[in-house]
Amino acid sequence: MISTPSQAPAEMTVTKNKALKENILTPRFYTTDFEKTANLDLSAQDTELQAMLEEMRADYNRHHFVRNEEFAQSWDHITGEARQAFIDYLERSCVSEFSGFLLFKELSRNLKQRSPLLAEMFSLMARDEARHAGFLNKAMADFGCTMDLSYLTKHRVYTFFPIEWVLYTVYLSEKIGYWRYIIIYRHLEQHPEHQFYPLFNYFESWCQDENRHGDIFKALLRSQPKLWQTWTSRLWSRFFLLTVFATHTLTVHERTGFYHALGIDPTEFDQEVIRKTNETALRAFPSGLNTEHPEFFPRLQDCCKLNEKLAEIDASSQPKWLKGLKKLPFQLSIVGHLLRIYLLKGIDAEALRGTVR
Ligand SMILES: [Fe+2]
Ligand SMILES: [Fe+2]
Repeated sequence: MISTPSQAPAEMTVTKNKALKENILTPRFYTTDFEKTANLDLSAQDTELQAMLEEMRADYNRHHFVRNEEFAQSWDHITGEARQAFIDYLERSCVSEFSGFLLFKELSRNLKQRSPLLAEMFSLMARDEARHAGFLNKAMADFGCTMDLSYLTKHRVYTFFPIEWVLYTVYLSEKIGYWRYIIIYRHLEQHPEHQFYPLFNYFESWCQDENRHGDIFKALLRSQPKLWQTWTSRLWSRFFLLTVFATHTLTVHERTGFYHALGIDPTEFDQEVIRKTNETALRAFPSGLNTEHPEFFPRLQDCCKLNEKLAEIDASSQPKWLKGLKKLPFQLSIVGHLLRIYLLKGIDAEALRGTVR
């Protein structure tokens, strides 16, 4: 199926609604300052951005997101924890792809008159994300639960992020998305016996979309010297890396059944994704985290254990105020661990520039 941006919302209107369980780890929907975005001076990265625009227009994946005959069968043999964990995985992935679609679509709409280059770029990225979300929603339908994305559009709460934060966080989410998809794909290439559903066959070309989106955000970020030349930019870079990585670690460990079904060790997977994303981010960010520090992963692991305690309290039948009170020390411990990681000496990416591409 080939979808164009104008077809996308209609394609994603579905019948049965799946209630979205909300927690701190749920993907969010964002909006930003369109006026400020339109006035960004992009001249320092003009060549790169023009080259990326040509690539996006070429639309290498226009025939990729077509469901083949392998999908045409019943998936009722996937049961129990593996089924639930897979549905959760699809749900979260679908929402985050859709969140990207909405943000890019809004940016494109609001920049049309003032910044034609950005407007086209965002419209082409929205095209890709609509395909990704639509494809995942069809996979969910195979398991009897689709998401009503048009309902979600109208009823979601949007979080405002200044454009600078959008550039850091979307860059990271595109690159972490790339690594997540490609690592699963390469693992299944070597272990086809764990390929329990044909979706994973699509990840190789799919992740190239995310890689391209990440490269566009890298060019946007590097076009703004204050996002990589200042001392505050170093602090922000490490802050966003840490929040994205902590969220990743917690969500991966909340859904271990899915990774076990694929024959993947969740902790190893999580750490490989974090290492690779951190390494990649050194090409765009002024500063990275030291993932090789002996405290780095153990502290993230401790956060997972504390998060399990929080889930246990949440699942109990105590009154809300008591749950809140009981959760507080665990939440403070998580913040303490994250703070200690944040305060570890980072990696100076600007000093490495020239050796790191
Ligand atoms: Fe995507
Ligand atoms: Fe993307």
